This record gives sequence, structure tokens and C-alpha cells, in this order.
Amino acid sequence: MSEQVTPVNTRKVFVKTYGCQMNVYDSERMTDALSKDGYVATDVLEDADLVLLNTCHIREKAAEKVYSELGRLREMKKDRARDGRELTIGVTGCVAQAEGKEILRRAPAVDLVIGPQTYHRLPEALRRAKGGERVVETDYALEDKFEHLPAPDRARTRARGVTAFLTVQEGCDKFCTFCVVPYTRGAEVSRPVAQIVAEAEKLAEAGVREVTLLGQNVNAWHGAGPDGAEWGLGDLLHRLSEIEGLARLRYTTSHPRDMDERLIAAHRDLPKLMPYLHLPVQSGSDRILKAMNRRHTAAEYVALIERIRAVQPDLAISGDFIVGFPGETDEDFEATMRLVETVFYAQAFSFKYSIRPGTPGAEMDGHVAEEVKAERLERLQALLFSQQRAFAARCIGREIDLLLEKPGRMPGQLVGRSPWLQPVNIDAKGSEIGDIIRVRITDAGPNSLFAEAIG
Ligand code: 5AD
Ligand code: SF4
Repeated sequence: MSEQVTPVNTRKVFVKTYGCQMNVYDSERMTDALSKDGYVATDVLEDADLVLLNTCHIREKAAEKVYSELGRLREMKKDRARDGRELTIGVTGCVAQAEGKEILRRAPAVDLVIGPQTYHRLPEALRRAKGGERVVETDYALEDKFEHLPAPDRARTRARGVTAFLTVQEGCDKFCTFCVVPYTRGAEVSRPVAQIVAEAEKLAEAGVREVTLLGQNVNAWHGAGPDGAEWGLGDLLHRLSEIEGLARLRYTTSHPRDMDERLIAAHRDLPKLMPYLHLPVQSGSDRILKAMNRRHTAAEYVALIERIRAVQPDLAISGDFIVGFPGETDEDFEATMRLVETVFYAQAFSFKYSIRPGTPGAEMDGHVAEEVKAERLERLQALLFSQQRAFAARCIGREIDLLLEKPGRMPGQLVGRSPWLQPVNIDAKGSEIGDIIRVRITDAGPNSLFAEAIG
């Protein structure tokens, strides 16, 4: 087995991505960075010379999954060693940032640990690891990592499809008391306009039709426009709308405090901006919102949504919720249920509160019993799911533009996305991936829609 079929100059990297869309983006950038050193991506673990776990620390379960995966990889590394073949194991992302050296202690098979702010140093760290060093890189780098990373590669972008993520902002200064993000992703940083526009143009040239701008607090993005004026996300969206090849723009995740007038107006003025807004509220109780340090009330949130819906009545709202935050009473939870009834969510993500060591929430009194959390989550999810289905049912009969993204399950079928992010199945004779076609919604299943082409 030691005579490898893979020549030394083409090594294979397997990246497993956990957590949010920003991690998906980061995994792609890391793969691009490694390609300069001859690495090609593989989705077959057994073929890999290098395995990277790009990790998430947002909830306890997410972090535990990483350690159990590392246990399995350790066995694989041992088996390989018997055959005289190497396996390099790296942990990147938010667990790497939060745990640092601790990972080397708990998982002896790991060769390198690299936080989200330093993955542009990955190729160099890898060379050191090959020299026998166990590398930990978790400093907040002084240099701009985006300047040190290669732009999205044309061929790889094309292979990744017609939709793409683009990080425009990273980190968070909000310090919600439940959340690790300010500690793992650091302080809020906005990428400069020119860098973002250049990357978006590259994506468009490679055939991407839809770009989702990413940031932990994406609507806090700000920067200097070409005229020197201070720009917000609304202005950036105007600029990106001018890129011809791009047909659709989205952004996520937003904080209610940062929805400014320009951004709200963009939902009225920009046809390319999809009528979809992910605007987490976490709780409908003012007492809990205060304890979470969200810095707005439930009524302010509802009023904000009304203002956005006033300029874009077609807007679908999506949200995040946490049940069982410390001190949450039955009454607080009922307030969350009422808020959900008032807002009507097209989609939502909801979680049991998970203690994150080092965050203020972990030190609070009144932790809620696990079975109470489970009960509340079940009720909330039933309500949210019924709204999601009602939203889908309302779509039946509507005519929409559909961006065709990938082959469907049946031959001749393609799957696209509605403006409201729902997967839509269609028999699309004569159309191909990347086309945007006019369709009529004919039916709604639990998680996707069905449509027929018109015109
Ligand atoms: N426990 C449970 N859910 C959490 N989230 C963030 N931190 C926690 C935590 N400690 C949820 C929030 C956030 C989403 C990304 O994850 O709802 O919006
Ligand atoms: Fe997970 Fe948050 Fe890190 Fe994304 S930024 S990977 S959600 S901890």
C-alpha cells in the first residue's frame, strides 16, 4: 500500500463542514487555498491524505460531534500507519478557536488546529505539521485574511453550482448572553466594497446566478463607497445589483437592531433582492429578551417587520428561537408562542438553550429543566411547522420565477428555489441548470413544492 497511486503533487483533502453557511464558505476558501499546494478536494474519506473538520461551537451537541468524529479518525490514522500511509488531521473553525490546545490534549491524532481568523495560513501550517510539529494557530491575525486568500477559482466555482455564498462581514459585537460567536469569530469586521464587488464579479463570470451575502451580523456591514461616502448593506446591495450576470441577491443573518431605512428600501427598490428575510428574535418575552441582551422588545420587532412588509408585502420571514433560556417561565414561553402567531414565519429554526461556558448566560440563575425545554420546543416546532406548511399551501396557484439549481430525483426533473427559498420540483424539458424560468406552483409537499413551466 505504500506505493501510492496518487503522485506526491496531487494530494487529496476531505473537508467536513459543520454549522452555519459561513463555515460552508470558509471550507470552499480553504480548499481553494490548498489547491496552490497541489491538493484536490475529494468527498471520499478513504482517499484523503488530509482531513479537515471545519467545526461549529454554537451549541454543546455541535462541539461533541467533533470529538466523536476525531475518535473515528484516530482509528483510521492507526490503520493507515500500519500500511505505511500518512493521514494528516486538522481541526478548523469555531471549536478550534474556542478550544485551541485543548483539542491536542483530548484528541492525540490531531496534527493542526486553526481558528477561523487564520485559515489563510493553512498551507504554511500544513508544512510545519508535516515536519512533525503539532500546530495551533488561534490568534486573531493582524493581516486581512481575505487579502491572502485566492479569489474563487473559476472551475471549482462552476462545479459548485449556480448559487454561491460570499462573506461580507464577520464577527459580532452584540454579545447576546447565550452566544459564543463574539468569542469564536471575534469583533465585527466588514470587508471593503472593492473586494466584495471583485469577488461577486468573479462568481458571476463563473456562471453563478444567485449570491447570498453572509455575516454573523450581515446587516451591520458598513464601508466606504467609491465616492468616500459611508455605505450600509442597502447601498452594497444596490451596487451588486448592477452586476449583470447575477440575477438574485440574498443576505443572512440579520439583527433587528441593524435594519436601517436604506436596507428596508432596498427590499422595495431592487428587483434582484429576494423577498426573504432571516431575522432571528429568539424569544417573544421582553423579560427574556432583556436577559439575552437583545436590546429590543417584542413589540419593536413586530413593528419592524410591519415596516418592511409595508414596502415589500411579498416578504417571507424566517427566524431563530431559543426555548428554556435561564429564567424562562411558562408565561415567557407563551409570549414567544403569541409572537410567532403574530408574525407568521415561512421558515424557522428553534433550539433548546444550550449552556456555553464563558458566556454570561452560563452563570445566570434559573436554569430550566431539560424535560421542560423539550416540551416547549415540541410545542413551538409544531406551531412553526404548521405555519411553514400554511405558507407553502398559499403558494399553490402562484406564478413565480424559478432558478434551476440541480437535477431532481426523477429523470428529466430539475430542482430549483422559489424566491422564498423553498425547493421546487419541475419537469423542465428544454431548460437547464442556471436558467430562470416562469412556473406555476401546482402542489405543496411537507418540504418542497411542485410546479409546471408556463409560457
Ligand atoms: N443555545 C441554543 N441555541 C443557540 N443559538 C445560539 N447560541 C445558542 C445557545 N447557547 C441559536 C440562536 C442563533 C442560532 C444561530 O443558534 O437561535 O440565532
Ligand atoms: Fe457555528 Fe457560529 Fe461558528 Fe457558524 S459562526 S460555525 S454557527 S459557532
